[in-house]
Amino acid sequence: METRILSLEDMRRAARRRVPRMFFGYVDSGSWTESTRDRNETDFSRIQFRQRVAVDISQRSLETEMLGRRYSMPIALAPTGMAGMLYPDAEIEIAKAAAQLNIPYTMSTMSICSLERVADAVDRPFWFQLYVMRDRAFVKKLIERARAVECSALMVTLDLQVLGQRHADIRNSLAAPPKPSLGAAIQLLSRPRWCWRMLRARNRSFGNIAGHVPEIDNLADMAGWTARQFEPALTWDVIREMRDLWEGPLILKGVLDADDAEAAVNCGADAIVVSNHGGRQLDGAPSTISVLETIAARVGEKTEVHIDGGVRSGQDMARALALGARATHIGRPFLYGVAVDGRRGVERVLEIMRNELDLTIAFCGETDVRALSADNLLRQRA
Ligand SMILES: Cc1cc2nc3c(=O)[nH]c(=O)nc-3n(C[C@H](O)[C@H](O)[C@H](O)COP(=O)(O)O)c2cc1C
Repeated sequence: METRILSLEDMRRAARRRVPRMFFGYVDSGSWTESTRDRNETDFSRIQFRQRVAVDISQRSLETEMLGRRYSMPIALAPTGMAGMLYPDAEIEIAKAAAQLNIPYTMSTMSICSLERVADAVDRPFWFQLYVMRDRAFVKKLIERARAVECSALMVTLDLQVLGQRHADIRNSLAAPPKPSLGAAIQLLSRPRWCWRMLRARNRSFGNIAGHVPEIDNLADMAGWTARQFEPALTWDVIREMRDLWEGPLILKGVLDADDAEAAVNCGADAIVVSNHGGRQLDGAPSTISVLETIAARVGEKTEVHIDGGVRSGQDMARALALGARATHIGRPFLYGVAVDGRRGVERVLEIMRNELDLTIAFCGETDVRALSADNLLRQRA
């Protein structure tokens, strides 16, 4: 790996050089004008800290608890579909990095490696993210499979009843695996190292779906089936059905509104993720950090409030924790890491963030990450 990767932006730039344009674009882009994706990041950067001095900060702890388990720091890897197109068997690489650093990894329904293959490769439990699909028999089977491999939490995504449009994916003719065309060939051949690496991949289609839907026996059918499966009629009643099917911790992801947060708690959520899907769904939705405090004030006593979207440094983690989050999740940053150097790239991203978080709490005069509060921020008092 390049030795000069000092920040997540360095990792992003390195990833751009490593993977074909269609896959970098798939990771990097947001929906339509990308205003929500961009706001996720810029709204974080506006929040300033109160620096404190003359405090004994020699002993510091970043450890935290999520859903009854101890982790080394308040971060989780968000579910991301198709990671396995960035690096061979990427989901396994990512899960191993998360296990090494003792933080949760969330496997997406739309992963390239299957639940069973990842569970075979790592000895720590991971979380499983579920898209509630119209084929409920398939959904029930997926939940049973997650239980069978001892996933320690089920995360149900609420904000993908319909799909936001990403221009980059259309322009780059994104498909997994890439469809044969001159344009795709040029994109792939311009990244020979990626092509060479991907020859090693044992998995090249959607591992959680392939072989589990009876009427599908080729990739084109699978892509069509998947696109038709997202459930536009996903209501709180359906969520309650999911709650009844899963006895372990339930995380509801994609909440941006305090009323919805309350409803999620009433459905039995053990945690919610304040998320706008990384600005990939409703363009024009608020940034997640701008709504966090209101949501945490409403439901923070009753459930764990996590956040994702635009977290790009340990400083951003500290900002979110100060505004009431129990934990932060990252999506794109670890994908850049895995694209650059597999497991080691993900570990590097997490090490950078851990170091930044550790020094940030120190500058704020805190010794325990769990003590961060709005008191650590410079509030614009009008
Ligand atoms: C390439 C990519 C794929 C994603 N796939 C999924 C998915 O399969 N399921 C899901 O719930 N969210 C998915 N998300 C959203 C992430 O879980 C998360 O909400 C988002 O990436 C957080 O924003 P960040 O990328 O700015 O950290 C995906 C995001 C990206 C960037």
